Amino acid sequence: MTRGRFITFEGGEGAGKSTQVARLVERLRARELEVVQTREPGGSTGAEEIRGLALNGDPGRWSPMTETMLMFAARSDHLEKTIRPALEAGRWVICDRFADSSRAYQGAGGGTPAEFIETLDAAVVGDTQPDLTLIFDLPVEVGLERAFGRGLFETRFESKGVEFHERLRGRFLEIAREKSDRCVIINAVGDIETIEARIWAAVEARLL
Ligand code: TYD
Repeated sequence: MTRGRFITFEGGEGAGKSTQVARLVERLRARELEVVQTREPGGSTGAEEIRGLALNGDPGRWSPMTETMLMFAARSDHLEKTIRPALEAGRWVICDRFADSSRAYQGAGGGTPAEFIETLDAAVVGDTQPDLTLIFDLPVEVGLERAFGRGLFETRFESKGVEFHERLRGRFLEIAREKSDRCVIINAVGDIETIEARIWAAVEARLL
């Protein structure tokens, strides 16, 4: 049995990831591939419970360190229960956010030391690194406006200031450079079909 492929979607708020995740899943299924669509934090029963703790409530509820461990606790359950079994069964796993979100939000945004995050990543994610990571990039104001348009702020992170979101954007672009073997930057400015075509080009070039 050939191992399935693991694709993650990353980027700041309001980048339009969810719409594009759904479109990519459809396109892959049209090719007769078995696909599991999932998200983080969450994607398994236990991880969805941790998601509620991590994302709801007062923005200062958790220290950056605690928040980082909550994200990796959720990720550990998600990998054990959903991601690894699917990949081993030959399915493709398409995940809305993964460990690069911890690097950006808890690391660059929250100030958790990068070494701590890398230690957790090595222990929890280990060899189950994505085969392809699509990093959605767009100006912060455009993203926040779109997130606002969805009906006020949904999570604790959306309510942080513009400067916080600029740090995230910078870190995501840095990750794309550091890990260029698996990362592709997707220009997320444009209409849905244009962005879908950019994603498909990256998937075809790297994985098909
Ligand atoms: P969600 O509503 O799914 O946001 P989006 O549509 O922007 O993906 O909420 C996920 C939130 O969790 C988002 O604000 C980013 C944050 N997050 C982290 O801070 N660290 C992480 O490791 C992950 C996976 C997500």
